[in-house]
Amino acid sequence: MMTLSHNTFDPALHTVVLCKGETNFQKLAGVNSGYLLDQSKKEENLLKHTVIDQRHVFLVSMNKTSDLSESECIEDFRKKGAALQAMVEEEELAAVQIIADQTINRKESEAFLEGVLLSQYQFLNYKSEKKEQSFTKIVLLSGMPDASKVDEIRAVVSATCFARDLVNEPVITLNTQELSHRFIEAGNEAGFVTDILGKAGIEELKMGGLLGVNKGSIDPPAFNILTYKPENAVNDKPLIFVGKGVVYDTGGSNLKPGNYMTTMKSDMGGGAAAAGAIYAVAKAKLPLYTVALIPATDNRIGENALVPDDVITISDGTTVEVKNTDAEGRLILADALVYAKNLQPMLVIDLATLTGAAEAITGSYGSAMIHKDAEQFVDDLKESGEAVYERLHELPVWREFRDQLKSDIADISNLGGRIGGATTAGMFLRHFTDYPWIHLDIAGPAFLEKAEGYKKSGGTGAGVRLLFNFAKKMAVK
Ligand code: BES
Ligand code: MG
Ligand code: ZN
Repeated sequence: MMTLSHNTFDPALHTVVLCKGETNFQKLAGVNSGYLLDQSKKEENLLKHTVIDQRHVFLVSMNKTSDLSESECIEDFRKKGAALQAMVEEEELAAVQIIADQTINRKESEAFLEGVLLSQYQFLNYKSEKKEQSFTKIVLLSGMPDASKVDEIRAVVSATCFARDLVNEPVITLNTQELSHRFIEAGNEAGFVTDILGKAGIEELKMGGLLGVNKGSIDPPAFNILTYKPENAVNDKPLIFVGKGVVYDTGGSNLKPGNYMTTMKSDMGGGAAAAGAIYAVAKAKLPLYTVALIPATDNRIGENALVPDDVITISDGTTVEVKNTDAEGRLILADALVYAKNLQPMLVIDLATLTGAAEAITGSYGSAMIHKDAEQFVDDLKESGEAVYERLHELPVWREFRDQLKSDIADISNLGGRIGGATTAGMFLRHFTDYPWIHLDIAGPAFLEKAEGYKKSGGTGAGVRLLFNFAKKMAVK
């Protein structure tokens, strides 16, 4: 756990200097005037590093590259934060002080600190040997975020790591019951309430999508309702996050072939993001009435599992012809979107690792988006995407895509055509909404096979920082 405090310059402590250009560097680092930066021990990972009288000095020089957007420049500060974290760890230092000069703006110093903290994450639950991290203390000097900002950054970083943990935990441990248990624990800590509908409650509400996907499973389904309703909330109607909670996706009877099943423990990444976001909102005590709805089950083969050709009935009475059991996320989300109607939301944002087709469009670099009746919110959300570097790409909602979901024997089919898989999946969900709604397909960014910057391999916590940034704006409206 990192300790963060504020103080004034200590000439004995290892020092990190943030500045654009190198003019101010010697003064800020407290090194004597004869010292030249060329003496740097090494320059790697975007940092310059040297040791003077056993004191480590890091220069994080920020020469703005002209062909980058503002969002990309800010992202570079997060990456440099991650590079610093790695070097401090490599040198086995315990504490550093960080100072920024006037050439560094508020967003940049915040991003740097966020990058340091996000990159400290490790998932060691199954490692016999757990090496202690040496880097445990940061002293913030002038130009760095103040105490209240630090609290906010810590809230969103711990929420992101909470979501990463959920994604990284394999289904042998994290089944539906354990997932609900983690939500309860998080709620107790952060200050939101968790209500859980078990199988009986789900049957009572006739959630045929969630029950259908669960048919092949030994573990019961769960419908998780996370509520944060502070007394000073600015909104009467809740902001609702809906997250796909497929704790494992084998594809079901349409079993995933070859290697396609690997990493499907991450198929509750949307649920993790929704829960992580409400966790951050509650921890930061935003005056915003917020709800997260997370339908959870695994999608398994089994004697009684759904098969293609089955017809199931969603909780609003819509019948669905199941043409492919691997298109399961939309079935459980349909019931959650119907449930959301009763809460009269100001806006519903759903997040789901829904389609390989979305991943093919965005890679791990952003998410695919579809919306309905939500024009007044979309720009704010897109801006949040730029600010936290979880960018959003809008898909077409042309009616031809909707037509692909026609069924001969039921109201709607769960499978579109050969092309536009990310859009048709979104169009399916759209059928179950009657409120301002935004859909985010996070299949690309939710899980990384290889570490990248401040993200380790595995769960990334994608969606958490995005939704928290957006919620902050809603809390002042
Ligand atoms: N969970 C998968 C989508 C997915 C794929 C997430 C790759 C992350 C990485 C989803 O349930 C799925 O299987 N989708 C199918 C839909 C198809 C059957 C219409 C897909 O994308 O192939
Ligand atoms: Mg699937
Ligand atoms: Zn899935």
